[in-house]
Amino acid sequence: MSENIVAIQLDGKEINLPVVIGTENEKALDIAKLRAESGFITLDTGYKNTGATSSAITFLNGEEGILHYRGYDIADLAENASFTEVSYLLLYGELPSKDQLANFEASLATNSRLPEGFADLQKAFPSEAHPMSQLAAGICLLSNYYKRNTSDATDENIHTILGAFAPVAANIQRNFLNKDFVSSPGKGLVYDFLAMAFDEEPDEVIVDAMDKLLILHADHEQNCSTSTVRMVGSSHANIFASITGGINALWGPLHGGANQSVLEMLEAIKADGGNIKKYVAKAKDKDDPFRLMGFGHRVYKNFDPRAKIIKRAADNVLNKLGVKDETLSIAKKLEEIALSDSYFVERNLYPNVDFYSGIIYKAIGFPTEMFTVLFALGRIPGWVSNWKEMRDRKEPIGRPRQVYTGATLRKYTPISER
Ligand code: ACO
Repeated sequence: MSENIVAIQLDGKEINLPVVIGTENEKALDIAKLRAESGFITLDTGYKNTGATSSAITFLNGEEGILHYRGYDIADLAENASFTEVSYLLLYGELPSKDQLANFEASLATNSRLPEGFADLQKAFPSEAHPMSQLAAGICLLSNYYKRNTSDATDENIHTILGAFAPVAANIQRNFLNKDFVSSPGKGLVYDFLAMAFDEEPDEVIVDAMDKLLILHADHEQNCSTSTVRMVGSSHANIFASITGGINALWGPLHGGANQSVLEMLEAIKADGGNIKKYVAKAKDKDDPFRLMGFGHRVYKNFDPRAKIIKRAADNVLNKLGVKDETLSIAKKLEEIALSDSYFVERNLYPNVDFYSGIIYKAIGFPTEMFTVLFALGRIPGWVSNWKEMRDRKEPIGRPRQVYTGATLRKYTPISER
């Protein structure tokens, strides 16, 4: 990162602000000393224009629809890499050699054996509880099993949570479906997850599709859940507590929870006789809280490159599995209508990663309520890589400021006088 200086005038005083320029030429004003020198803070509700950190993990250009993990294009990785390779790349910055990948996968396999007694606690969760609630509780609960310091960014701590995540998620699906838990066949993270979640060993088409989907979800720079993980971790909370924060942030329908909402929306349109225009009109009506789920993104003002890949994959997977699903044709028509409507065009609203993913998950056989857990399974390497980067760089505790708008100082009134 190179630096130069920009001078601004505030209350008649010249303030010098360093300019920080990233490797892809993104520019930022470093305002760390602004308040000390001028009394001003900056205000940016929703962080629409605020960089909370610098990071060497993921590059995203929302205007041009570009997404790179550690310098590699998302389409290149989705086409050629495996999910565990991408997890290694995100964590350690380089693609692994054959030996490095084998050691990493072996370590994740060792850590996929959940601590003794843990599965009984997972079974005790009410089966009807939402899978994201079971995931947040389960991952936080894991922290009880380790006596060592789990707030340090060691490989041991990182591999523990990465290895445990898939079996915890598979057990959640089984609990949700009131099925007994099964053990892992030991054939790799994605294969094992599918074999444990369902009653049979998975078809190659399904393993490949799932692997690709997990890669596409693996990281997305400082989104709501990742920023939460960094924020929670900045207090030196342990890795399980930090990731649990991210899981809860992901659950919301404006973030990862959208994949469940999209499918529910498509099913509702189907049940309503395929009346797409009615739903587009509802989405445009400012008096109606309905939004077109899976559309729009804080950063992308162009096609989400992940949505393009997933749309192609949806066609491919459904064909290979011989599944005919009306929701896919409804989704395509909905996209076509929205993209030619001035409301969506003027606001740069395009399909995001969640628009087509649920159709593939449904074709594989996942219950709709599991969709956001699948997003979390993909995102765990990104969360952990950001958590590691934040701890390795010894970033300070996250603590934003505010502009106070409440009552000014007043005297306590006794209750008898109120
Ligand atoms: N349907 C209808 N209108 C929309 C939609 C939508 N899906 N998304 C945005 N808009 C409109 C807003 O009403 C607003 O209109 P206005 O300027 O007339 O007031 C304008 O577009 C800008 O929207 P904001 O909400 O200000 O944009 P923001 O960046 O804050 O929100 C978000 C982004 C949350 C993703 C939003 O587009 C949305 O709610 N989308 C639907 C939910 C969704 O798919 N979430 C998943 C995002 S991807 C992910 O997190 C993995």
